[in-house]
Amino acid sequence: MKITVLSGAGISAESGIKTFRDSDGLWENYNVMDVASIEGWYKNPDLVQQFYNERRKQLESVEPNKAHKILAELERDFEVEIVTQNVDNLHERAGSTKVIHLHGELTKARSVKNSERIYELGYREIRKGEKAEDGGLLRPHIVWFGEAVPLIEKAAEIVSQAETLIVIGTSLNVYPAAGLLEYAAGSAAIYLIDPAEVKYVGSRRITFIKEKASDGMEKMKQYLYEATGKC
Ligand code: APR
Repeated sequence: MKITVLSGAGISAESGIKTFRDSDGLWENYNVMDVASIEGWYKNPDLVQQFYNERRKQLESVEPNKAHKILAELERDFEVEIVTQNVDNLHERAGSTKVIHLHGELTKARSVKNSERIYELGYREIRKGEKAEDGGLLRPHIVWFGEAVPLIEKAAEIVSQAETLIVIGTSLNVYPAAGLLEYAAGSAAIYLIDPAEVKYVGSRRITFIKEKASDGMEKMKQYLYEATGKC
């Protein structure tokens, strides 16, 4: 069975990474638009670098949680592909092998002159004024508000192939990611795991599982094995 997962900040909440919209529009004490928009970058690149340097350092100290781990384990018996809005690497560290990052990756940097000149940073900081080989400033490899989402077509294709679509830990506030549900095949079963009410404005029939990511994924796993007769 082909399973596609659309994950958001909520899946990493139990690992200790704060979500965006659970905290009054502040994200780890910053105004989201100051640190996560192209305007914010032009206005104050040092603040933006500092913010992502801190997030990268924090990422080194957190661990994947049970929800990430169950998704990785499901690869043993199912074809699982993950489309994540998260910039952390917790899906990969849990063992998932097919992950695309719609909004970029914290552990990478790129040149402001060429978006395809991408560097592995690991958990180190981008130093003030640090440049790529082409002379362009290094910036976080993150898709900010006001920027295009280069992987959206690939993501839509992955969603369209799903027999089961699991949406987990996203408020479905940010487009184009939130619109991906509409690409699911008519025959696909769609589940949404979130402890809060998620306002879904589209037309698809969704089964809501009102649980935190770890408990919700435990239930989802049991259901998938029962439904497919695998053990
Ligand atoms: N388990 C599952 N879901 C949870 C948990 C948990 N333990 N805790 C919170 N949530 C849910 C919240 O109820 C909310 O619906 O996670 C969701 C998080 O929503 P957002 O903070 O809006 O995060 P997300 O949807 O990933 O944001 C999308 O916005 O700022 C941008 O680029 C950024 O990728 C991000 C995008």
